[in-house]
Amino acid sequence: MTHTSETILKVNHAGEYGAMQIYRAQITAARLMDWPCTADLEHMKTHEEEHFAIFDKLARKRGSRTCHALWLWAIGGYFLGFITALFGERGIWSCTIAVERNVFNHLVEQLDWAAQHDAELHAAVHAIIEDEAAHRDEALINRGKPRLLDRTLESMVGTTTSFAIWLSHRL
Ligand SMILES: [Fe+2]
Ligand SMILES: [Fe+2]
Repeated sequence: MTHTSETILKVNHAGEYGAMQIYRAQITAARLMDWPCTADLEHMKTHEEEHFAIFDKLARKRGSRTCHALWLWAIGGYFLGFITALFGERGIWSCTIAVERNVFNHLVEQLDWAAQHDAELHAAVHAIIEDEAAHRDEALINRGKPRLLDRTLESMVGTTTSFAIWLSHRL
């Protein structure tokens, strides 16, 4: 994928916004069902809020364009979080694994590019990448050994996330 500073900023800004909504929907379901994953999800959501604030601040500072369709990420993220929560805690963790794995791989690519081209953006991506890796790893531990349904969900959410990243470059 070809990168520009403006695109990376726009994609990450929209992505973090969507991530907040995924966790928001899952937290609502988890609270309702009194699942033990609630506290972990709340903790992860505060990270996504911090990540969003980092890119939002940088975009404002630079007068850089953000995604015109943030509402789409809100609805899409919330929908994804809600659907996966229907599969219980294992569904939630399978979703987290798939989303965070995709995001992490994408951030690694951005980090390589930004290291050569944009120090400030590199610092921003660097500030969040460890959190995303931790979310993925924590979800892997919480879910435990995957069953067939978990693998199916994971691959479906993975495809959805890749599509969302592709789309966010174009909106
Ligand atoms: Fe994030
Ligand atoms: Fe995350």
